[in-house]
Amino acid sequence: MIDLIKARQTFKEYTSHYDIGHPRIALKMVHMYQVAEIARKIAKSLDLSKEEQDLAELIGLLHDIGRFEQWKWYETYSDKLSIDHGQKSVEILFADKKVRNFIQDEKYDAIIYKAINNHNKFEVEKGLSETEMLYCKIVRDADNLDIFRMCLESPPEDYTHFGSQEVSKEILSPDFFVDFQKEQPLRYTNAKTDMDIMVAIIAHIYAIHFQETLQNIKENDYIWKFVKKINAQDLYTREKMNEIAAYGMGYIERRIKE
Ligand SMILES: [Fe+2]
Repeated sequence: MIDLIKARQTFKEYTSHYDIGHPRIALKMVHMYQVAEIARKIAKSLDLSKEEQDLAELIGLLHDIGRFEQWKWYETYSDKLSIDHGQKSVEILFADKKVRNFIQDEKYDAIIYKAINNHNKFEVEKGLSETEMLYCKIVRDADNLDIFRMCLESPPEDYTHFGSQEVSKEILSPDFFVDFQKEQPLRYTNAKTDMDIMVAIIAHIYAIHFQETLQNIKENDYIWKFVKKINAQDLYTREKMNEIAAYGMGYIERRIKE
């Protein structure tokens, strides 16, 4: 049995040791609650049992727990500039068995560990069991979906990798435009400009697994809203960003009809 009320209390107690009034920390805390909620909805859409839905919600709640330490020590959420936050999250949970404060039963430990450790990797590690892979996919979908909400609620400048002060003035790299249409997630490390980073964010759609998530992206009109928010000023970039939004929406529609 999974006691989510106790888990949420423990989570609240854990976060109280950090400066949760800081907007950048609050942002991540809201994200964790949101991902928990979305993960449960996805699990429900897959007709999983109540216990399985509870487990999905718990993994969602805990998936980014390492973010607090990451911000505390590095003041960045860039893993490239600091630490692997998925790895940090499992270290916090499993190094001193803190996970037992969130869930008494040990039987889901491997699932929780693998889903969280893999949630932020470009590619999921090989050798996961079917069940481990299922929860891994659920948390990755929930995370990817909530990234769109977060990006819309914060200025694009918060998501840059090159520190651009005004993303709207950035130029899109032509090869990134071409690569977007290959319908594969894009590596942030291949980006040359912060506009490329914005495209890499949109390319998260290519990592989505479940109909529930695709529907949610469509209903919220996330791609167009995001592109409009970026508001590219350069003419070439503006035109290509509009094409990217149209292409991305076409992809979602196609996946929904499948
Ligand atoms: Fe994360």
